[in-house]
Amino acid sequence: MDPLLEAALAVRENAHAPYSRFRVGAALEDDSGGIHVGCNVENATYGLTICAERNAVFRAIADGARRFRRIAVAADTDALTPPCGACRQILWELCGDIEVILVNTSGRTESLRMKELLPRPFDDAFLGP
Ligand code: THU
Repeated sequence: MDPLLEAALAVRENAHAPYSRFRVGAALEDDSGGIHVGCNVENATYGLTICAERNAVFRAIADGARRFRRIAVAADTDALTPPCGACRQILWELCGDIEVILVNTSGRTESLRMKELLPRPFDDAFLGP
């Protein structure tokens, strides 16, 4: 299996999801081939929960990475789990039109682009010079 998918499935095991019991893993590949992983981390206030995808992106930024190729998102669902709306916005701004590979625990995959997941995005292009 592709190491990026393996990394997303592996980090999913570390998810802290005591409320939803819905565990998600994400693995983001930078332009040097480095892999930055994240899992969802829930909070008793619910609203402060962070998704796996945002965790991976913020970790990658903290690691010094700035350009990205692909992200893999792993969950245990038959209908493959896509990034939520908030994560799509963050992924678009910090990663651009990268490939998004959804994978489940049976190893089934689907490949999409960020442009498909977030058509007509609001971004810095609207803020002017
Ligand atoms: N979650 C993610 O981490 N990523 C997704 O793509 C969908 C949802 C998390 C947030 C929360 O901890 C749990 O899954 C249920 O929504």
